[in-house]
Formats: sequence, structure tokens, C-alpha cells
Amino acid sequence: MFNRRQWMLGSAALAAQAQPGPRNIVVSSSNGLRCCTRAMEFLKKGEDTLTAAIAGVNINEEDPEDSSVGYGGLPNEEGVVELDASVMHGPTRRAGSVASLRNIKYPSKVARLVMEETDHIMLVGEGALKFAKAYGFPEENLLTEKSRLAWLVWKRSNRDSGGHNNWTDGLDGPSKAKPAAWLRDQFPHASEETLAWAWDMARNPPTGTINCLTLNAKGEMSGTTTTSGLAWKIPGRVGDSPIVGAGLYVDQDVGAAGSTGRGEENIRVAGAHTIVENMRHGMAPKEAALDCLKRIARNYGGDQERLAKFDIHFYALRKDGVYAGASLWSGRVRQGQVTRAKFTVNDGGKSRLEDCEFLLERKS
Ligand code: GLY
Repeated sequence: MFNRRQWMLGSAALAAQAQPGPRNIVVSSSNGLRCCTRAMEFLKKGEDTLTAAIAGVNINEEDPEDSSVGYGGLPNEEGVVELDASVMHGPTRRAGSVASLRNIKYPSKVARLVMEETDHIMLVGEGALKFAKAYGFPEENLLTEKSRLAWLVWKRSNRDSGGHNNWTDGLDGPSKAKPAAWLRDQFPHASEETLAWAWDMARNPPTGTINCLTLNAKGEMSGTTTTSGLAWKIPGRVGDSPIVGAGLYVDQDVGAAGSTGRGEENIRVAGAHTIVENMRHGMAPKEAALDCLKRIARNYGGDQERLAKFDIHFYALRKDGVYAGASLWSGRVRQGQVTRAKFTVNDGGKSRLEDCEFLLERKS
């Protein structure tokens, strides 16, 4: 016969099975497939959740083909790559960040050192660079040939009302290239694909970024966000990624959230903190993120013409392993087609892309 205590223990075990619970899980932005795979490998080895998240995003920071993060990131208006990053460690409730950091490939690692080795939370510009060098980071040129070309295309695409630009052949020059042909004329060695990409980047300056959130089976959580920020920005512009509470927030009691996309809109709603607070007050990750997007839409009175000029994505991971990705728009238009907004998840197997929830439907 079951006694009352055994019956209660049995019920609790059944309830625990029915509920989601802490488990190894990594959530990231859509550029995070390899990042999530590496972070999961670290979690499986029993590494700390922040070590796992940073190891994951390091892949993007050193990837010359990710033009929104680290090496190969698109530069500021002077052609200099400036990086921002933040980290938060749930178990110790600590945070660190760097902003406008030049010449250092791994800003997420520097942010962690700010967290662990100083009594500060944020270092910027020259101070952040000196700090990184003091800890042995080598100075490197982060501008790849591909991002230099994109920067030049951007400079040459800026014209006055007469179609003139100081960075193109002068009025007395031999080139009479029509606007459609000037790109090919001025970059004869670049592939068609690179030129098409550079032209798109010039006209639609991206705010890519990678965010990575980790949870382990003990229920410990961490996160990091790292970026080269808005392409062609004014030197010194800082986005949301290094701002604790905007581009990243982790509360070990509740969950974690992060963001990619147009940082200015996120800073105005303190997005990641707002989402974690929403979860604390009972919202599921999906509702918490959509509520935050509604606040962004509200800042424009819901005017879809103005909202259409940018996009922003949030990622939310609750302490019990429930997660969501949510974007302002359902996707982006590419060659007349809407490409659905995605985010990356790894819960122990292969990393996979999942559809973001969205606030507004983009029509092709
Ligand atoms: N979310 C990246 C930035 O705006 O800089």
C-alpha cells in the first residue's frame, strides 16, 4: 500500500516529467548555427555556461565572411572596424562589456576580462584597447578586402543632387560610366556576386550581430552579444549589444534575453531587460518578446511605413528551457520574395534554424 508521503513523492515526479526543466540548450541568432554547435559541445563537457557561449560566438568573431561581427565586420564611415560586446554570467550575477573597440578580434573575451579582472562593467574606445593589449591581445587589422570594397562602394554611392561624388572620377576624368555601370567600371576585379552584395550593403547598412544564450542541466545560464555594429556608423557610435539590459540580460532566477538588429530602437525600450522582466511576471518567452516588440512599434505610433525601415530580433530563454525568437517583421524581402526571419537552437543534437515569431507581416 502507498502511504501518503510515497503518493506525494510519486505525484511530484510525474509533475516534474510533465514540466519542461533545465537542460543543456543554446539559443542564438540566425548566423549562429556553428556557434550553437560549439557552445553545446562545451556544455556537454560540463564547461561553464559563459565559457560555452563565448566559445560559440568566437567562431563568428574570427569568420571573415560574417560581415556583422568581429574580423570582416563592416567598418565605420572612416573605414575602421569598431566592435561592441557584452557578457553576463548568471551564477555569479556579473556582467562586463566593451564598446568602440578597434583592432582586437575577440571583443567578447575582452568583455569577460572586464567582468572578471576589474571593478568596472564597461570599457570603451582607447581605454578598452589599452586594457585588451595589457592582457596580451594582439592588435590586428580587422578590415578584410571584401569589407574594404563594400566601404568604398558605399562612399562612392553617396551623391549630391547632381549625381556628383568626390570619391569617383572627376568631371575631367575619362570614365563616362552610367550609374548602372560605374561599379563594374571602378572595381574591374571584383566578382558580380561581391559587387551585388556590396551594393546591397551600401544601400541597406546592416546591423547584424550575434547573440548567444546558454542554459545547462543544473539550471545555470549565461549570454553574450558581439557585433561590429551599424555599417558606416559615425566613429564612436555605440549600439545596443554592449549595453547590459538592451542587447543582453541574464537573471539567474528567471532567464536570459538578447537582441540583434537596429540597436537604437532596442536601447529605447531596454529590450533584453524588458523581456526578462516580462518573463519574471509570468509571460512565456514568446509573449515576453512580442510585448517588447510592441513597445518598439508604439514608439512610432504603429506607423508601418517608418517601422519598415528597420528590423530587430529578440531571443529569449527561460530558466526551465522554454525559448523563443521574435522579430519585428516576418522576414526580409530579397528579389521580390519574403525570406522568413529565423533563429538558431541546439538542444543536444544538431543545430537547427526555427522560424521567429513576428509582430508585423512583411508583404513581398
Ligand atoms: N544590434 C547591433 C547594433 O545596432 O549595433
